[in-house]
Amino acid sequence: MDLATVILAAGKGTRMKSKFPKVLHNVCGGTMLSYVLDAAHGAGVKKIIVVVGYGAEQVAREVAGRAQIVSQPEQLGTAHALLQAGPLLRDFNGHLLVLCGDTPLIEAGTLAELIQSHRSTGAAATVLTARLEDPAGYGRVVRDNQGGVVRIVEQKDASPEEQQIREVNTGIYCFKTEGLFADLSRLTPNNAQGEYYLTDIIEKNVRRGRRVGAVTLANPLEMKGINDRVQLAEAGRYMRRRILRDLMLSGVTVIDPHSAFVDRKVQVGRDTIIYPHTFIEGDTVIGEGCVIGPGARLVNAVVGNGVSIQYSVVNGSSMEDGCSIGPFSHLRPGNSLGPQVKIGNFSEIKKSIVGDGSKVSHLSYVGDATIGKNVNIGAGTITCNYDGRNKWPTWIDDGVFIGSNTNLVAPVKIGAGSVTGAGSTITKDVPAGSLAVERSKQTVIPDWSKRDKNKKDETQN
Ligand code: UD1
Ligand code: CA
Repeated sequence: MDLATVILAAGKGTRMKSKFPKVLHNVCGGTMLSYVLDAAHGAGVKKIIVVVGYGAEQVAREVAGRAQIVSQPEQLGTAHALLQAGPLLRDFNGHLLVLCGDTPLIEAGTLAELIQSHRSTGAAATVLTARLEDPAGYGRVVRDNQGGVVRIVEQKDASPEEQQIREVNTGIYCFKTEGLFADLSRLTPNNAQGEYYLTDIIEKNVRRGRRVGAVTLANPLEMKGINDRVQLAEAGRYMRRRILRDLMLSGVTVIDPHSAFVDRKVQVGRDTIIYPHTFIEGDTVIGEGCVIGPGARLVNAVVGNGVSIQYSVVNGSSMEDGCSIGPFSHLRPGNSLGPQVKIGNFSEIKKSIVGDGSKVSHLSYVGDATIGKNVNIGAGTITCNYDGRNKWPTWIDDGVFIGSNTNLVAPVKIGAGSVTGAGSTITKDVPAGSLAVERSKQTVIPDWSKRDKNKKDETQN
């Protein structure tokens, strides 16, 4: 392979006002840096080097296994950052794609075009540019009368005329590696910010009569760099639209794209409908023909086909086809539901296995339980799984009917086909096929109302 990439990600991102390095901030379920890595991968780059500085350890952890790391202990500028990758590229001779860790919207296809143009023109350097309505803050691309790139000038160093230029540097380039690091090491920080500017390499090449190319972004939004939390939210909005658009084009109905929040890695099958006020996050996978929302939050959930989830929270749980969740259910991590399971109104369920067709329809807490097939858990049932120190399991076998308001004091096992009487506190195992009732006999005092009235009459006397 004659193609490598260096991602500059050493900066602190002062304007984020954060204790975390800027490139680790999250956009639709991925760090900024992870998008840039994906774009590089998608463009066919195999060798990736990330320059880290501020929060180096955290950034290194984020890219582990996907890229090599090189550190820039002091942030002396973009040229200085790239120079740090030199030793790792000593034996590499080819083309180098340079990316910034804070531009997560850049797409693989765009990078592939840049690389393709760079290769076909044989340029020493090719810069990706963008025409912006408001170029403020970016380096401006200065061209000569023939339209050739002459140099890039940073806003702070630009003359009033140069500041009028609306074509800007995206901070993304392709370079031939031959002589690149020698040139970088010779740059000087003679500029307003006293930094080693990578952009100076462009002018250096032009002066030497080496060819410098430029590719202009068709969609300038892709270059949006994130420097503060306002831009973070803007990038999130853009990314969200892109994710939802892809989903819709793949056959998913999104009732209101302004009110659906789907993370980048989420997969959704065709003919599923996503209703408003819905958040689908992490590695969630949803099958076909489901109805998700309104008002649902799914985090790392695995959902079969034909499932309905409304006004509920599902976290770290899986469910097979035809399940119905909610309204107002809470699935905490570790549940595995078989087909046609129903978890209904105000029920909470945690670390439990629920067999085919079983129902936890109302006002129950089920934790650390293994429930068989076709079990009915009556309203208000509680698995008392915690004794203040340890969590204990509950087993409820196939076909059991748990009466309303039953307390199941774990560890306890209810055998197949058994019934518990409403209001019972079950502390001992129940053998298969039995009825377990635990409650005091009802006392009825006749004519109570009459007696009450007589009492009143007495006091009045
Ligand atoms: C840079 C470009 C500017 C371009 C803009 C696009 C230069 C001199 N200017 O400016 O022309 O329009 O990007 O967004 O290159 N970094 C390091 N080490 C450093 C300095 C920066 O790793 O010592 C990294 C940052 O973490 C960031 C990237 O390089 O990911 C860009 O640095 P930044 O300071 O944001 O450059 P800009 O001023 O935005
Ligand atoms: Ca920047």
